[in-house]
Amino acid sequence: MVKKNACIFISGQGSNLKSLIENSRIYNFPIKISLVVSNNQNAKGILYAKKNYIPYLIVKTKKRNFEHIILKKIKEHKISLICLAGYMKVLSKNFINSCKNKIVNIHPSLLPKFKGLNTYKRILVNKECKTGCSVHFVNEKLDGGKIINQKIFFIDEKDNIQSLREKTQKLERRTYAEAIIKIYRYN
Ligand code: GRF
Repeated sequence: MVKKNACIFISGQGSNLKSLIENSRIYNFPIKISLVVSNNQNAKGILYAKKNYIPYLIVKTKKRNFEHIILKKIKEHKISLICLAGYMKVLSKNFINSCKNKIVNIHPSLLPKFKGLNTYKRILVNKECKTGCSVHFVNEKLDGGKIINQKIFFIDEKDNIQSLREKTQKLERRTYAEAIIKIYRYN
């Protein structure tokens, strides 16, 4: 099958990037990771790009035209899907409109609940009995686009921020892979 070119945006650990690289090696997984973008030169995730010979771009997000630099690379690599995976910089309206319906994100909560940062702490303070993760299309509203895939688990009374993070991130791998399969299922 002809795989679509995808680009993964990271800022940190890159565990979702690692898992997407692994999935992309499966014969009928719809995407190939053709580019990795990081706004943090120390992001551990860059090592996965290097190890797998995937071209990567480190952008200085303080530069005024940094999004133009990314857009240029995205065109060069004929990218048809941008997967945000722990990318900690908010994208401009202009960037989002230039890549309409091509950008997806993973968020560690059951959206529309707990949009934004400090998710695990807020979930615990709110005494939620369940949580999970969501993959959604990116629009101009923070964590507000259409949900593509979601997975749930029940919170144990012994859970803390660290254990919630571990359980959520474990679930994220499958949630992201399934979301990408869903996106291309009817295309
Ligand atoms: C993930 O938990 C994701 O939900 C959030 O940032 C984290 C990134 O983790 N948006 P990693 O860099 O993929 O390990």
